[in-house]
Amino acid sequence: MTEDDSPSYGRERLVEVYTQGMLAGQPPSLPPSYETLEAAAEEALDPEAFAYVAGSAGAERTERANRTAFERWRIVPRMLRDVASRDLSVDLFGERYPAPVALAPIGVQSILHEEGELASARAAADLGLPFVGSSAASETIEDVAAELGDAPGWFQLYWSSERDLTASFVERAEEAGYEALVVTVDTPVISWRERDVERAYLPFLDGEGVANYFSDPVFRDLLADPPEDNPDAAVMRFVDVFGDASLTWADLEWLRGLTDLPILVKGIVHPEDAELAVESGADGVIVSNHGGRQVDNALPAIEALPRVVDRLADAGYGDAPVLFDSGIRRGADAVTALALGAEMVLLGRPYVYGLAVDGEDGVREVCRNFLADLDLTLGLSGRASVAELDRSALLEAAAPSVETR
Ligand code: FNR
Repeated sequence: MTEDDSPSYGRERLVEVYTQGMLAGQPPSLPPSYETLEAAAEEALDPEAFAYVAGSAGAERTERANRTAFERWRIVPRMLRDVASRDLSVDLFGERYPAPVALAPIGVQSILHEEGELASARAAADLGLPFVGSSAASETIEDVAAELGDAPGWFQLYWSSERDLTASFVERAEEAGYEALVVTVDTPVISWRERDVERAYLPFLDGEGVANYFSDPVFRDLLADPPEDNPDAAVMRFVDVFGDASLTWADLEWLRGLTDLPILVKGIVHPEDAELAVESGADGVIVSNHGGRQVDNALPAIEALPRVVDRLADAGYGDAPVLFDSGIRRGADAVTALALGAEMVLLGRPYVYGLAVDGEDGVREVCRNFLADLDLTLGLSGRASVAELDRSALLEAAAPSVETR
């Protein structure tokens, strides 16, 4: 994609919103504010489903800090630098993507909308944004791929304690045409989530989010009866094999040997882990703390990002892409993460709230609003392309004074 055919996300969306609202009396169907959107999703969902999505580990300090930590870096806009045409496109693993934005892997989307991942995948495909399909999806690897068609899809792998099952997922993803593997390493077990514990709610035990397992020949061989005949036993087997807390970095080398797909290791916070990931065969990493869903009172992901970027550069791995999620809500968040060295950001909760409120159209609208906000904020910062964003776009806010006077 050249600069000239780069879509003008901000202008198009603003023109659409204001003309539809002012001339046709049709205001946007979804609120542009993340906080109002979350409230609309709460309204639309069963209380336990909303709690599952909105909730995080423990006292949810990480989730809150993920958002507020962005305030440590302030964008310093530059003027009169010709930002009339803006290029948001990025290259990753030899592919050109229209914008530095992917849809994060989010499991169990059937609790949000009856069309679940199929609706989200269609919206992502429409916009050309990579859709990251979760291992814990409510729809199979193959069915999600069918919705994506030629549009970009990556597959997120939860590494099962049954090696053959892990290998089978990788093979299925390759055959279905996914372009990269996202290996999530921060979830060997599911954490202590107070909202879910309070409601005694885990969707998998309801048979939601297990489509990839129930359809897998290796998984089915582990069962005495097919899941269709004895779903409860199949769910219990899923719980047994879901994760493997005994994994070490050496195991990543085994996975590397299984596939030629690019591997992104997701869930990196410590710079040394980023280096170990690349040393063990990963092509890149995703700095993420799983949206605060795993460890309470953990380092906010945006604090980890520049440390990881610098460490990889110092170790001679400066070419390994670093992607980012956890706390991305608005265009300015994306500009900050990109300026700190992320190649792309992953949008998480905002898009599934769109799904909850209005299915495929809701996901599309959230993504289009986000792209518009990103495009406008980039231009108004005085940058005509994502490539021009670096740390010179930011100023670190002074540390709060400890003086009480
Ligand atoms: C997730 N996330 C996630 N990650 C992953 O690798 N595989 C998965 O199946 C899921 N499932 C999932 C479900 C729900 C309901 C949420 C909210 C999140 C984590 C996700 O990919 C991403 O890291 C976070 O959503 C980022 O945090 P924010 O920005 O959404 O708060």
